[in-house]
Amino acid sequence: MQHLRAGPLLLSAPIFALVLWISLASAHVFALPPDVLAFRRDWHDALQPSARGADDPIDLSADSTGNVRRLLQLGLPSAPSVQSMPSNNPNYNVPQVRRDLLNVMAWAGDTGALQGDELDETVAAIMSAAARYFPEVPTRAMCRTLIADIKTESDFNTSLISGGRLDSGSSWGLLQVSPGGGSQELKLFKQHAQVARNTFSWAPTASSLGPLIDWQSGEQVDLDSLTNDDLFRPWINIHVAAWIQSNSARTSSQDPADWPNIAFAAANVRKQAQVGANPGTDQTASQLASARQQLKSQLQGAGLPRSVRTGLGTWVAGAATDGYGSYMQAGDDISRQYISTIAKAVSHLYGYTVSTAWFNGLQVNAGLVDYQ
Ligand SMILES: *[C@@H]1O[C@H](CO)[C@@H](O)[C@H](O)[C@H]1NC(C)=O
Repeated sequence: MQHLRAGPLLLSAPIFALVLWISLASAHVFALPPDVLAFRRDWHDALQPSARGADDPIDLSADSTGNVRRLLQLGLPSAPSVQSMPSNNPNYNVPQVRRDLLNVMAWAGDTGALQGDELDETVAAIMSAAARYFPEVPTRAMCRTLIADIKTESDFNTSLISGGRLDSGSSWGLLQVSPGGGSQELKLFKQHAQVARNTFSWAPTASSLGPLIDWQSGEQVDLDSLTNDDLFRPWINIHVAAWIQSNSARTSSQDPADWPNIAFAAANVRKQAQVGANPGTDQTASQLASARQQLKSQLQGAGLPRSVRTGLGTWVAGAATDGYGSYMQAGDDISRQYISTIAKAVSHLYGYTVSTAWFNGLQVNAGLVDYQ
């Protein structure tokens, strides 16, 4: 756990109270997540937990502080490298993800599609991606969504290549990542994924998960060396797709071309907040408020809910910055069908009907994760 310096305590009490009041008031007015204010809190406290049901308990305190880290050796015999994959549900870990994956494969008539080392790698990638990119979503709900997404995209075929939808080019592997065409999804990951640390644009400190370790090499993922063929590897495929889906959801379906502006605006908010927390500076609260306003306008997107559903819808329908072409539009049968197929597999795992609206209950914080 990291804590920021205790700078504000050195301010005289009235000034501190005033700054705090202005900060809180402006946060309220601009309706930004309160976590951008939370500079003295652990990053994890800064995550807003998703809506959760009795079936999907979420225990953030048990999560990424390292208390509940699960080493792969516990349940994945073929693991070539040590990975830490925390769960925010004490009752949902490696064995349960494996069971759910096997369960959906059997239900879909795909038994045996993944086995041995590839099965282990897929289980691990699902857990790792859920923890890194969706830490505030209940682990079980997120892992089940990823399993159902894999079923829907590829029927668990790691080497599947499909023809392009629209202008997105061909799609590769378990989650059908489109490396070419207008999508350039692998390039996006190679250019902008932060793999040295697990970072959140709205929080000043990285999570405790550390670097993204490649399943194969046991070393930090080497972005420069990734090629299209690496998309046949469950580890790379699932991380690339989940990273894009998470950031699409967090930016309300902003076009990835706009993500650098968001990252820049978020860095400015962090900087202004830090400057304001230093004793003896004359940085005014209005500078911080203005930085927040800038960030808010960058994050507005199409006003789509910041939820797992928007991540999925954007994955299929594309970014929808101005609402045009979004998965929410009438007539978008492709993503409607896609999300409802995912919902069916998730329903199978829960044993009751989950609607497509259920994925909107899986809310995420505004901003960018692991973005540089
Ligand atoms: C998986 O995809 C590859 C490439 O598209 C194809 O040749 C193969 O038959 C598929 N496997 C199954 C089991 O469908």
